[in-house]
Amino acid sequence: MSIKVNTIATYHLPMKVFAPASIANLGAGFDVLGLALENPGDVVKIRESSEPGVRIARITGIQAKRLPRNSKKNCVTIAAENVLKKANVDFGLEFELTKGIRHSSGLGSSAASAACGAFAAMHYLNLKLADNELVGAALVSEMVVSGKHVDNLSASLLGGLTIVRTITPVDVLRLEVPPIEIAICTPNFELHTEIGRSVLPREVNFNHAIRNTANTCAIIWGMVKNDIKTIGKGTIDHIVERLRAPLIPGYYEVRHCVMDAGALGFGICGAGPSIFAIGEDPSNLSNVMKDGFEDEGIEAVSLVAKCSNQGAREI
Ligand code: HSE
Repeated sequence: MSIKVNTIATYHLPMKVFAPASIANLGAGFDVLGLALENPGDVVKIRESSEPGVRIARITGIQAKRLPRNSKKNCVTIAAENVLKKANVDFGLEFELTKGIRHSSGLGSSAASAACGAFAAMHYLNLKLADNELVGAALVSEMVVSGKHVDNLSASLLGGLTIVRTITPVDVLRLEVPPIEIAICTPNFELHTEIGRSVLPREVNFNHAIRNTANTCAIIWGMVKNDIKTIGKGTIDHIVERLRAPLIPGYYEVRHCVMDAGALGFGICGAGPSIFAIGEDPSNLSNVMKDGFEDEGIEAVSLVAKCSNQGAREI
């Protein structure tokens, strides 16, 4: 369906949009839970172009040289084009991307770029899309680069904790989250989501499915009640962790160190290789994880990120 754009809108002025990194799954909630972070994130500048369609004019920031300029391959433009299609305009859109999230790090890098592209196009064109419609438009981009899942994407677009009830059709629920700080550590290697998804089981043990469902509910309860002990218990994953852990050298050693240091919960961020820990002293936990990887001979960077109720937005 084509929507008539409000021509009085000031969409001729360039606009800047930020979309945050996110943690998908949170352990037990595989492909269901997504949590928006305050930082890091991607930024796009959008402006009108006399050429129809979408175009990437410039990419700067982390790993900028590696990212595709081809509009059919870049997450920003794939998502934006899908939004542009919904508008009835005779001009195109041009983007400058400043990448703030490392590619294939597990922190929803491709989703943040897609969220930037979709949100910027919607806002610039003054379209009023419902949340699920916007997530659905940006999903095309995730499908091209990392598979059909919207957990990172919904969190990056909408903020807070998102619960993906169904993907077809997109039906996402969103909860406000308390300002919990999460320790994150990224070992210095890439793990492509397709590889992380290639080890997923075709069938799951019934008992494990029940335990993961219970833990997913515990995470949601913990977020509602601002109870990090319960969130921590909820991160225990009986299905995917043991299949993905071998893809992250040092995973069990680091887990052991950080749980010993008082972590209340621990897991892989999305498909990895970043890992997260929840606890009373996130700054110490993030250092412990970095030291743990380095003891295994793997360089790593750590950070503490607050979860955030803000998703993609104009800045
Ligand atoms: N839920 C997805 C996965 C997120 O774990 O494969 C990918 O970042």
